[in-house]
Amino acid sequence: MSGFDFNKRDSFGSRLGVIAAAAGSAVGLGNIWRFPYILGENGGGAFLLVYLIIIFSIGIPVMMSELVIGRRAQRNPVGAFQLLAPRKPWFLVGLMGVVAAFMILAFYTAVAGWTLEYIYQTLIGGFRGKSSEELSAMFDTFRTGSLRPALWFVIFMLATSGIVLGGVRKGIEKSTKIMMPMLFVILIIMCVKSLTLPGAGKGLAFLLQPDFSKITGTTILMALGQAFFSLSIGMGTLITYGSYIQKSNNLANTAVQVSMIDLFVAVLAGVAIFPAVFAFGISPSSGEALTFIVLPGIFQQMTGGMIFALMFFVLLAVAALTSTISVLEVIVAYFTEQLNLSRLAAVILGTISMFILGISASLSWGLMSDVKIFGMNIFTLFNNSTANILLPLGGLLIVVFLGWFFPSKHVRDELSNEGALKVRYYTVYRLVIRFLAPVAIALVFLHGLGLIKF
Ligand code: PHE
Repeated sequence: MSGFDFNKRDSFGSRLGVIAAAAGSAVGLGNIWRFPYILGENGGGAFLLVYLIIIFSIGIPVMMSELVIGRRAQRNPVGAFQLLAPRKPWFLVGLMGVVAAFMILAFYTAVAGWTLEYIYQTLIGGFRGKSSEELSAMFDTFRTGSLRPALWFVIFMLATSGIVLGGVRKGIEKSTKIMMPMLFVILIIMCVKSLTLPGAGKGLAFLLQPDFSKITGTTILMALGQAFFSLSIGMGTLITYGSYIQKSNNLANTAVQVSMIDLFVAVLAGVAIFPAVFAFGISPSSGEALTFIVLPGIFQQMTGGMIFALMFFVLLAVAALTSTISVLEVIVAYFTEQLNLSRLAAVILGTISMFILGISASLSWGLMSDVKIFGMNIFTLFNNSTANILLPLGGLLIVVFLGWFFPSKHVRDELSNEGALKVRYYTVYRLVIRFLAPVAIALVFLHGLGLIKF
């Protein structure tokens, strides 16, 4: 057996703990920050429709597949492929996931840092009485600064490292079980507020009425990328978490429940944001700034807005934290098991390398704004290339591996807990991972990259 002791592996304590941790990974800035602005830039309701189809037809099967690989192998993504496909190049899929983890953690933690700035601004009353234009200018001033974005990044990164150092069970499981439901409740209150703003109907129509003429290759590629990003799939996060799940857990149910929670939070975020976008006269395609301009605007209109703002941004930071730890955990599991490092050494190494990437990402509109790769700043490069390329490619290879190169019997055993559960859906699942998902991902890819035309 290679360098580590199976018995020492941490594991999740309960079924609810698994859901909390996996949903904690899935639900985060991807739902509340990324989903609304990507939807706003890519056709509104049309995007939502495509997104829904992708979650059900591709997202859930890919998530199940990752959990199967992780729990079967009980290892980090690289080690898992080495064990399940010895002496074959499949471990490269795991390695690609680790690379994606570095890139995601860099820009994602930068955005998580923005939430800390917004907690601070709420506390000093920085938003008070500001119009949408002023809120927008305020965000730009902050983002183009050369110290604060990096400082908040460092603070958030250290918090992430601290929790990951402590191990999975106590820190992650405990906090998410309380914080996630609270975030839910506040988000619903904000939806109600947003929907009662004058002119809110237009925003709701933008979100819910698909204009089919707006569905282009890019829309579909962006929806695919957003689905992978939001569900935390395609890079081994759920292989890693799957490796901590006990053998009695029903993996298919877990995948469905986590995906539904994730979808629900994204839709709630859309309902909270778009009515306000139209009521305040903001452009739905304001990009990464969208959420950070609209939310303070809504809070201004609420009685007790400052309290709500404070609670909301704190909970958003926590939701981001339960996602950043899941990404760092991929890197740390890889370092400890493949490079034989102690957990402490792995966390330190991961954190230091993240400082370089993450500070660069957080200063992408400030000090580093002149650094452009393929015409994008570092932040945008990491954001786009992970969601739209690395994750779907990883997902494609994961389902192809399970569907074509790994014995079907083992997959079935893993999903049925060695025969204890009925898996009536198995034939459908197998058809999806062998044909539908890989073909769909490949087509969307080629079309989105302009290599084929329908
Ligand atoms: N799913 C997380 C979110 O939506 C982000 C994430 C992506 C986490 C990939 C882990 C892996 O916020």
